[in-house]
Amino acid sequence: MNFSDNINPNTVPKHIAIIMDGNGRWAKQNGQERLFGHFAGVEAVRRTVKAAAEFGVKYLTLYAFSLENWNRPKEEVDGLMDLLVDTLVKEIDSLDEDGVRVRTIGNTAGLPNSCQNTLNEAIERTKGNTRINLVLALNYGARWEIVEAVKEIAQKHASGELALNEINETTISSFLTTAEIPDPELIIRTSGEHRLSNFLLWQSSYSEFFFAKIFWPDFDKNHLAEAIYDYQNRERRFGLVSEQVKH
Ligand code: FPP
Repeated sequence: MNFSDNINPNTVPKHIAIIMDGNGRWAKQNGQERLFGHFAGVEAVRRTVKAAAEFGVKYLTLYAFSLENWNRPKEEVDGLMDLLVDTLVKEIDSLDEDGVRVRTIGNTAGLPNSCQNTLNEAIERTKGNTRINLVLALNYGARWEIVEAVKEIAQKHASGELALNEINETTISSFLTTAEIPDPELIIRTSGEHRLSNFLLWQSSYSEFFFAKIFWPDFDKNHLAEAIYDYQNRERRFGLVSEQVKH
């Protein structure tokens, strides 16, 4: 089915977050090294950003490197960092022309300097763009982010800047690395795994999930459209009963 033509343009999720999984298995399937899968994954990233912008998605968050990913073989970690820098350098002109605003979430201060510099340049250069926000989750971990927020809140409370009754869900959200980004309505994970893997734990409270069986390098416009189509045909109740949300 061609899902792209069957999407309702009025109810496209504002924010879609994706756990891009299966690059390594895709490479193995093709008799190649794991890094070959990540290279192919970049092509899928390019297709997906383009398609998301076309569909009218305003925020696309991609889980590109988790805190846990440091434990992979050094060769793969170094390769991923180089790939990120090379891709940003290569793509920045077309991202900018396409109205993409590059942003990051996660502990980016823990990334290699070359990576931080390239990211900062891309963020600075695209900060005026409004067509779509490409949010790269880098050195990201949801529990890390929550711990950091708790520490900051505790400090502000101890110094008298934040009263106890001022600490609520909105305050907590504002201390997370996603502070200026709305919660994702839809989270997609590829490769047939059904886990969140420490991704957007706080922000996903009311997200819908879509699990695709294919590996990330095979993900294309029609898969994104299928996930959106599936999302549009669900009933989101936010704890209410069906009759309440229909009125
Ligand atoms: C998961 O597959 C993929 C990653 C941990 C890295 C994702 C990175 C990219 C697609 C490239 C860089 C991204 C940008 C935004 C330029 P896996 O290695 O866990 O696959 P496996 O589960 O089959 O081993």
